[in-house]
Amino acid sequence: MSAPALDRSAADTDDRVALDVADLTVDLRTPTGTVRAVDHVSFVARRGETLALLGESGCGKSMTAQALVGLLEPIASITDGSVTLDDVDLVSAGDSTRRAMAGTELAIVFQDALTALNPVYTVGTQLAEPFRIHRKMSKKQARQEAIELMRHVGIPEPETRVDSYPHQFSGGMRQRLLIAMAVALSPSVLLADEPTTALDVTVQAQIMALLARLREEHDMAVILITHDLALVAEQADRVAIMYAGNVVETGPVAEVFANPRHPYTKGLLDSVPVSAERGADLKSIGGTPPDLHSIPSGCVYQARCPLARDLCVQQRPALLSVGTGRAAACHFSEETSNV
Ligand SMILES: Nc1ncnc2c1ncn2[C@@H]1O[C@H](COP(=O)(O)OP(=O)(O)OP(=O)(O)O)[C@@H](O)[C@H]1O
Ligand code: SF4
Ligand SMILES: [Mg+2]
Repeated sequence: MSAPALDRSAADTDDRVALDVADLTVDLRTPTGTVRAVDHVSFVARRGETLALLGESGCGKSMTAQALVGLLEPIASITDGSVTLDDVDLVSAGDSTRRAMAGTELAIVFQDALTALNPVYTVGTQLAEPFRIHRKMSKKQARQEAIELMRHVGIPEPETRVDSYPHQFSGGMRQRLLIAMAVALSPSVLLADEPTTALDVTVQAQIMALLARLREEHDMAVILITHDLALVAEQADRVAIMYAGNVVETGPVAEVFANPRHPYTKGLLDSVPVSAERGADLKSIGGTPPDLHSIPSGCVYQARCPLARDLCVQQRPALLSVGTGRAAACHFSEETSNV
C-alpha cells in the first residue's frame, strides 16, 4: 500500500523539506502475535516549521518517533516505508546509521528529563559529549561549548552550574538541559515527544517559547508530539492527526481546526475547549481506540464513527487530498461537518 505524501502544498519548495517520512510501518512482536503499531504513516517536516503529531494515548506517536531516531525496543521493527533525511534513507541505512544521524541531524527531546540525563555525571560532562565525540574537541574546548550552550537555552550562571548534577536543577531547567543537548550540533530536525507534560503551566510556556526561538535561530524543523489540542493550536503550523497507528488527517493547523475533514478530528475538537466558550458543554467521543490485536480491516475509526456505513467496514480509506496541502483518510470526508 502506498499513500502519497499529500501534505505538500503547491507553494512548497522542496529544499525546505528536512524530513520526508513515507509509509513508515512498525510491527511489534508480542506474546500473543504480531501487531501493527504504526501503519504506513506519511508526513513531511520542513525547516522553520512546527509539525504536530497529535492523537490520543496509544495511537503510535512515540513509536513513530522512536522509529525515526533508531531507538525502537527489540520487540519492534520497521517493516515498510522510508525516512529521508538529507537525501539518505534512514530505513535502508540500518539502525547504526540511524542512531549516528540521530545524534547530529535528527535530535529528540523526551518528556522525562530526569531519566534522560545521567545522574552520575555533571551536566557539563554530558553537554560536552557531543562536541568531544562528533567535533573531536579537547576537553577544555568542549567544556566552553557546554557553557555557551547552557547560556543559549537560558540557564543562569552557566559558568558555575556547569559543574552541577542533574538533580540539582529544577524540572524546567532539566528540560532546558535536554533541549541544549539536542540542539548542540544544530540538527535540521528536532523531535519533541511531550516535552512539557511533566511541567507546570508557566514553565511549559517558557519551554515552548525556547523551542520556538531555537527553531528560528537554527532554521530547524520541529516535530511536536502531543495529545494537547490547545498546544497544537498555539504552537504548530501543520498537524498530522493519528488514530490507531494511522495518520487520518493532515494539513495546516488553522484550516484543519476550522474545518476538519475527518470525523475523528471533528470529535477531538468537539471534546476539548480549544475554540469553545468557557463553560460550554463538551461532547466526548464515545468508545475507545481499538486494541492493536483487533484493528478492523476497513476504516480504523469505524467503531466510533457516527458516519460509518458498509463501505467503511469493507474498505480502508486512503489518505487522499482534500484541498491544497490537506489530506484525510475518510470515504465520506465531505460529510464531516454533519457529525
Ligand atoms: N512493549 C510493548 N508491547 C506491546 N505493545 C506495546 C509495547 N509498547 C507499546 N505498545 C503499544 O504500541 C502502541 C503505540 O504506543 P505509543 O507509545 O507509540 O503511543 P503514544 O501515541 O505515544 O501514546 P501516549 O500518548 O500514551 O504516549 C500502543 O497501543 C501501545 O499499547
Ligand atoms: S471512512 Fe467511514 S468510518 Fe471511517 S471515518 Fe470516514 S465515515 Fe467514518
Ligand atoms: Mg507517547
